[in-house]
Parts: sequence; C-alpha cells; structure tokens
Amino acid sequence: MKMKTKVKVIGAGSIGNHLTQASRRMGWDVVVVDADPKALERMKNEIYPQRYGKWDESIKLYTPDKEPKGGFDIIMIGTPPDVRMKLALEALKENPKLLHLEKPLCTPDMKGVLEFNEELKKHPGTIVVVGYDNAVGSALVELAGMLEKKTFGEILTLDVEFREHWRGIFSAHSWLAGPWETYLGYWKRGGGAGGEHSHALHLWKYLADVSGFGGITDVKSFFDFKKERDAEYDYLATFLLKTASGKVGRVIQDVITFPVKKWARAQGSNGFIEWVGNASPEGDLLRYQIEGSEMVEKMVAKKRPDDFYCETLHYKDLLDGKIKLADSPLSLDRGLEVMKIISEGYKAAGK
Ligand SMILES: NC(=O)c1ccc[n+]([C@@H]2O[C@H](COP(=O)([O-])OP(=O)(O)OC[C@H]3O[C@@H](n4cnc5c(N)ncnc54)[C@H](O)[C@@H]3O)[C@@H](O)[C@H]2O)c1
Repeated sequence: MKMKTKVKVIGAGSIGNHLTQASRRMGWDVVVVDADPKALERMKNEIYPQRYGKWDESIKLYTPDKEPKGGFDIIMIGTPPDVRMKLALEALKENPKLLHLEKPLCTPDMKGVLEFNEELKKHPGTIVVVGYDNAVGSALVELAGMLEKKTFGEILTLDVEFREHWRGIFSAHSWLAGPWETYLGYWKRGGGAGGEHSHALHLWKYLADVSGFGGITDVKSFFDFKKERDAEYDYLATFLLKTASGKVGRVIQDVITFPVKKWARAQGSNGFIEWVGNASPEGDLLRYQIEGSEMVEKMVAKKRPDDFYCETLHYKDLLDGKIKLADSPLSLDRGLEVMKIISEGYKAAGK
C-alpha cells in the first residue's frame, strides 16, 4: 500500500495557509508549526476558513515545544526570511525528500547559507527548492516552453516588472499597523522591494536561462530607500542585467505601484510575448505575435490558490523523478543567485 505523503509546514501566516491548502488539495497529510500560538488560532479560525471556505480538521497544529520531528516527506519553511536559514538547517537534519524554502531565501547578509550548504552535502537525497511560485504557474510554463522552442526566434531582450503596492499584503495582515511591525519594513531582514518582490529577478533569471542567454555576468542596480519609524526599506529596486552572451535586460520591483503591475516581456528576432499576471479576475494574460501573423491574446484561467497548487503539483513531479532539480525553475541554485544579486545591490548602494 502506498503511504500518504506527509508534510510539515513551518509558519502559520499568509504563505503557510496557502502551502497547507495546496498540500491538502494534493491529498497530503499536513501538520503546521508556528512559534506564536495566536498565529495558529488565526489560521484555524480566520485565514483558512475565510480564504478556502472552511477549516480542515485533518490539519494538526503545533507550537515548537510539541513539534513532531522526523518522517516527513516534505518540509516547507514559510516564516519571515530572517529566521529561514536557521530553521532550514534544522529541517534538513530531519532528512525530508523535499525541502521548500520560501522566498527570498535569506537575509541580504547571506547569514546561514554556508552552513546550510555544508549540511546539504550530507543529504544528497534531499531536493531543495525556493518558493518562486509564479515561474511554475500555467501561463509562465507555457511562455517558457515557447521561448525554449524559439517560437519568436532568438530572444534579444527580457523585461520583468513586479510593481505592487504593499497595501494588498497589509490587508492580508490586518493585525499589522504598518511596515515597521514586520520584516517587510527592513531591507536588512529581507523585506523591502528587493526581497519581497524578488519574484521579478527570479523570473528574469529563469527566462534568461530558457532563452539561452548564459549566466548573468554584470548587474547595475539602483534603489530608493525610505525610513518609517525605526524601519528602513527600499520601496523601489531596479536592475540592469547583462549575460555571458552579451544580452541585456531589465528588472523593476517596487512596493508603491497601484494598481498592481506584474509583467514580463520577451522580444525576439521574430516576434514577442508578454505575460500579465492577474490581468483580470479570471487569471493571467498571454499576448504574443509571431511576425507576419495575427496578435494572439489568451487568458490562462487561475485563482490565487492555484498558484500554490501548481507548485505542489511541480513538487510531485520532482519527487516522482519526472523533472530533474536542475531543470526546475525553483532550484536552490536559482534562489541563491537571486539573493546574491540583491545582496550585492545593497552593498553597491552603500548599505
Ligand atoms: N510565494 C509567494 O507568493 C509568497 C506569498 C506570501 C508570502 N511569501 C513569503 O513567505 C514568507 C512569510 O510571509 P507571510 O506573509 O506568510 O508572513 P506572516 O507574518 O504572515 O507569517 C509568518 C509566520 O511565521 C511565524 N514564525 C516566525 N518565526 C518562527 C519560528 N522561529 N518558528 C516557527 N514559526 C515562526 C510567525 O509567527 C508567523 O505566524 C516571506 O518570506 C514572504 O516573502 C511568499
């Protein structure tokens, strides 16, 4: 008899709820651990029933003193970035088959990464992924597939923007008065536009890889910072990137743009393709044209929980060996490279 996949989610906040629900949708058994008993209560009585209709009694909730250890197929770390690597190291020692680390991977000082990588050598069987879920969503999988097949000829440049006023994040965290009460308000803790919207840098890197751009060789970055009470964060982070093949492209991330703009564009020698994330309540938009043909506009239906369901489906494929980690957009290596770019950017800005 096949055993049910067992999942432990650490962090019962916004992402912890999404990851739990997606795992339950897969039919997996889930336990959730949070250091704050109030967060566990909020998950059970507010966030989960409000988002997904009702609480699921099969989900078991624990504080760290009672945390079950060992025997998990998957461990997902959905805490703020400044505690991630410490928890990741502990989770790795439990030898899960797959370890999901939320984005951004860590703090810009890269604390804990070396130690984690050393421990990882002792766990060759553990697949480590970073939760840049957009890249495994249906619309972007389709877009990446077209770039790989050279549908638009040779890709000449790539642009990605994740420009999202963080009022959306704060409305999902009604218990927070403002950025100063959370890691979000502190670039040093992995918050600000650089860390929080690093989906854009990640997507650029992934699409550059599938377009055959070669590795990133040069980055120029500019940030705009803001101080609010004792918080300090970049509300705008911009990057110009150059790769080994000489290709140049651009990434913009901010926490001030409203309405939200989540957008990617690839210009090829024989046409272009654009992705507009959440273009309408129905889902994401793909708009493309092969030179000499009609422009195509195609809605790819999705609701917010589907973003994370696509991610758990991807994990099943990784665990079943249908996808190799090196081919996964979510590989640790890509997540690490994104974090290094952000880290170098802050240094260059004199931080
Ligand atoms: N992939 C996505 O689209 C997406 C969406 C939302 C959030 N995130 C990421 O997820 C991370 C968390 O964001 P969030 O909005 O869920 O935050 P949150 O504040 O809502 O939840 C984080 C939870 O972690 C708990 N926690 C903190 N330290 C802990 C510890 N040592 N042990 C156990 N629990 C601990 C907190 O008590 C809190 O309940 C961030 O890095 C964020 O960028 C990603």
